[in-house]
Amino acid sequence: MTTSLDINKIRADFPILAELIRNKPLVYLDNAASCQKPQAVIDSIVHVYSHDYANVHRGVHTLSVRSTDKFEDARTKVKDFINAASDKEIIFVRGATEAINLVAQTYGKANISPGDEILITAMEHHSNIVPWQMLCEQTGAILKVAPINLKGELIYTEFEQLISDKTRLVSVVHMSNALGTINPVKEIIAAAHAKNIPVLLDGAQAIPHMAVDVQELDCDFYVFSGHKLYGPSGIGVLYGKQALLEAMPPYQGGGDMIRKVTFEKTEYNTLPYKFEAGTPNIADVIGLGAAIDYLNAIGMGNIAVYEAGLLDYATEKAKQIKGLRIIGEAEHKGAILSFTLDKIHPHDIGTMLDSLGIAVRAGHHCAMPVMDFFEVPATARASFALYNTKAEIDVLIKGIESLIEVFG
Ligand code: ALA
Repeated sequence: MTTSLDINKIRADFPILAELIRNKPLVYLDNAASCQKPQAVIDSIVHVYSHDYANVHRGVHTLSVRSTDKFEDARTKVKDFINAASDKEIIFVRGATEAINLVAQTYGKANISPGDEILITAMEHHSNIVPWQMLCEQTGAILKVAPINLKGELIYTEFEQLISDKTRLVSVVHMSNALGTINPVKEIIAAAHAKNIPVLLDGAQAIPHMAVDVQELDCDFYVFSGHKLYGPSGIGVLYGKQALLEAMPPYQGGGDMIRKVTFEKTEYNTLPYKFEAGTPNIADVIGLGAAIDYLNAIGMGNIAVYEAGLLDYATEKAKQIKGLRIIGEAEHKGAILSFTLDKIHPHDIGTMLDSLGIAVRAGHHCAMPVMDFFEVPATARASFALYNTKAEIDVLIKGIESLIEVFG
């Protein structure tokens, strides 16, 4: 595949990529855990604290107006980025995890009764399992899990069969963090909607790799974190269809989420503020807006094509290594290469690659049921971003080969 990305220019935008790690050029392949930040994002945060900072929504003074404008501009940028219908549908939260907990504890508590079912898949991150287990404990609902096959793909026919008259919510990962699998989310949503069941998509991994259009997908909720989208950590987004959000009770009580408070009764604020109690993460919301500007200038379509080329290249090379097992070989897959090596524990792979300046993640990737399914304690995971190169993949492959030679 060819790319229109100017990769040298892009790499120069990320100051951390010039770091030496153990006296070697950094090869950063832990992007599924968290992406590095372009200078534009770093600058935007420095700028807001240096020139524009005050609390939002509450002040009439110049700095408060300035920071409110920038904060709300960022909301509009997020809205446009995922093509939501309105700014009211964009709720700022701490990250994808908080967004799912919010839906579980508001929509879930209001709509789910004993014996009702919540349907997820066997490839979910813990953040799309545990909040539903907690809700099940609170309500007496039942968690149903659609199985996956040995390639790490959802077994769609079984998923469809698990949609029952008792299903009240489907919550599915868009792209798996442990396997890279991209789920057939349009079909999933259509099947659930045919029975009037809302669908939440966990977009934490998908959002940095592809254009997401929530209206085209017709999902009811979409969640993601800023730090995996080249933005700051500690900020994330819950998208929800306006009618659903309007009907949901608030998540937390406090300042900003109210219209009127007396000791007898509180009237809640309108969307999106009803779900944003307390002083928000002002500078990081603005930083997320800068990340979106940065990505828009490159184009999500270009990024998807470029990263598909990286994944194909890495997969082809990895397959030539004797004793390397790829975990996750879905036909539709994003830029994640999870693997194990015969006789070398993933944690040792991670440590030894680090000594070569290569950052990969080793562990269960917050997806223990996936590890159990593949009967591995953990995997090593190289995950690619728009600034990675084939030359870096060559360094990774050479590194793996050298550690097999020494320890395999
Ligand atoms: N969920 C993050 C990962 O996949 C931390 O590594």
